[in-house]
Amino acid sequence: MEVCLVIEVVKKDEEIIFNLETKNSMYQMKVDKYNVLKHLWYGSKTSTDMEYLLDYPDVGFSGQINEVDDSTYSLDTLPVEYSCFGVGDFRVPAISVIHSNGSDAIDLRYQSYSIKKGKYSIKDLPSVYSNNDDCDSLEIVLKDTSSDIYVILKYGVFNDKDIICRSAVIRNEEDSKICLNKAFSMCLDIPYGSLDIIHFHGRHAMERQFERIPITHNIYEFSSTRGTSSHQESPSIIICDKNCNEEFGDCFGATLMYSGNFKIQLEGDQLNQVRMVMGINPDTFSWTLNHNEEFYTPEVILSFSNEGLSKLSHNFHDIIRNNVCRGKYSLESRPVLINNWEATYFDFDAFKILDIANTAASLGIDMMVLDDGWFGKRDSDKSGLGDWYANEDKLKMPLKDLVSKVKSRGTKFGIWFEPEMISEDSNLYRNHPDWAVKIPGRKPGRSRNQLVIDITRSDVRDYLYESISRIIKDCSIDYIKWDFNRSISDVYTYSLSSSNQKEMGHRFVLGLYELLEKLNHDFPNLLIEGCCGGGGRFDAGMLYYCPQIWCSDNTDAYDRSKIQYGTSFIFPISTIGSHVSAVPNHQSGRITPLSARSVVAMSGSFGYELDLNTLSDTDLEKIKQDIKDFKKYNKLIHNGDYYRLSNPNDDNFALWEFVSDEEVLVQGIIFRSEANQLRYNIKLRGLDSDKKYIDSNNNVYTGSALMNGGILLPKSSGDYYSVMIHLKKQY
Ligand code: DGJ
Repeated sequence: MEVCLVIEVVKKDEEIIFNLETKNSMYQMKVDKYNVLKHLWYGSKTSTDMEYLLDYPDVGFSGQINEVDDSTYSLDTLPVEYSCFGVGDFRVPAISVIHSNGSDAIDLRYQSYSIKKGKYSIKDLPSVYSNNDDCDSLEIVLKDTSSDIYVILKYGVFNDKDIICRSAVIRNEEDSKICLNKAFSMCLDIPYGSLDIIHFHGRHAMERQFERIPITHNIYEFSSTRGTSSHQESPSIIICDKNCNEEFGDCFGATLMYSGNFKIQLEGDQLNQVRMVMGINPDTFSWTLNHNEEFYTPEVILSFSNEGLSKLSHNFHDIIRNNVCRGKYSLESRPVLINNWEATYFDFDAFKILDIANTAASLGIDMMVLDDGWFGKRDSDKSGLGDWYANEDKLKMPLKDLVSKVKSRGTKFGIWFEPEMISEDSNLYRNHPDWAVKIPGRKPGRSRNQLVIDITRSDVRDYLYESISRIIKDCSIDYIKWDFNRSISDVYTYSLSSSNQKEMGHRFVLGLYELLEKLNHDFPNLLIEGCCGGGGRFDAGMLYYCPQIWCSDNTDAYDRSKIQYGTSFIFPISTIGSHVSAVPNHQSGRITPLSARSVVAMSGSFGYELDLNTLSDTDLEKIKQDIKDFKKYNKLIHNGDYYRLSNPNDDNFALWEFVSDEEVLVQGIIFRSEANQLRYNIKLRGLDSDKKYIDSNNNVYTGSALMNGGILLPKSSGDYYSVMIHLKKQY
């Protein structure tokens, strides 16, 4: 027996058991006498060899691998650790490979394993990192029975955090090249249970909508082919028991640390078992692996909770905040910012920006962000992308001067880029038409009037790095908003041969990561906010480079409460860029009170996006106070445990709670008020039953009362009535 803190390897006769343990979960695999790596368990700790749960039914048309003479042993019915295509497992595969003879079967069997202290990293891709030895890693090497193709399964076990990371590396030691048709990061077989899927679908300005559906006999697919992880589907999934809710029940979550085309497949099979596989979307991918080359798949962050969905979210929030986000701002309070986009759109000059910045400074706002339209010739979305130098004619002063005037009030300065795009009406396009992504002989489709620039090319990346870094240096920029405003179509690159064009999607993502890595490295004090027409690329891959992402172009408090609800299942509140904007809201036309907009925006990386100079003195006073409140509660909001107290899709309110050792903040909005109604009573969560809590009116409650009896919300009046209750724990 070999033990490394959390990874235990037990060898017994012809079998080897791998047991990965975290504080509250256990993950078990077994190598059997045929060297097949079976998946035995992912769930609560049992201190048992979970093989006893495996049934070996003799199922017609579920055949056997060659060396087995026992009709009850079939790869088509057994839970396996990494499912292979073409050798008798007819459920969704994790890998499919074309060999030099054109065949596409692969039969991976156990070869060896190794255990390492610390966390493995993944070449050229973002991955979860370990702090102070909080992780151990296991590698299991599998080999195809009939070729020299190897798959190395990687596991990073974060004991304290109840997190297991997974990734796979495919290595070709054949003399000839092979082609990967599908190379997923993971497979998870769940033989028993009556299970639901929770996924997060959406559209532009309505991202990550929560949907819970039962798993029946079907293959469910959640995916993107848009070049980004997308507004339409998040690369994250939760599988939970039917009776699982926020506080009770078993649930698994998985999120792919990847910002491009992905696919999650979930199969309810003929025996009511469930298989989940996830990775780079094979519909838009294939990859040539030459002799001795390796392919690295993106990482999946996995977690299990037997205490319901809130605990699962806490696990993801903790790992993403502490082991995915990096740099100065990963844990530090972020500047409260004001962005001019909804205030001015393209219609501004430096004086208008200074007017906004001056008022902002007087209210306690920390940073002015100059959005789209400051560069090239850009007075609409029809031109200018790619010409990353300031338009001083439009600004009416050098950008540098504008920045220093803003900074003279003690305000930081941020600026917008959309580096991965090019306008046909730009000097860059006129000089380098071949830099745009388009297929020779086919006229490319436009979206938002623009084309994508080919960042698989190193000359393009060099141009972008030079242009962006020059502005950052010359103008002492503190923050950049990295936007991306269309899906990628007409995929083709001159950097690859015709037979390798299906590598483009992944190489595009690698190009993006290389650029972001260089900027992070060279400008350690720069805060980068990710954006893709709002939250179209809201994933753990981007969060490795940008600790906050503009969550949605929809700034309406009501819609946002649903968008942020869905986002919160996986992503920590500190990563959610969220602003107060004007009414009627520019996206929904809805009018909500300022207090509702503030309370929703505060539940994120807080900011404003409106012309402050059009507001009344009362509103400006309120904003001043809200900023003070946010700063007072910032640590609690970003570091505290976040509890969803309602489901805004079903309830007449969106309510949530932040809890730390010392204090509690309940926030939310009551959507509609009715006459002669009892006040809502909400049960709080995560408190110390035996301690007392005091609110700002000096009412004292026990934790037990607040969690079992609840707290009465204020009597609401009108629509979108805001709630903010702060309680301090008494010692
Ligand atoms: C889309 C972003 O999400 C907006 O916030 C804004 O930056 C626009 N692009 C600018 O074009």
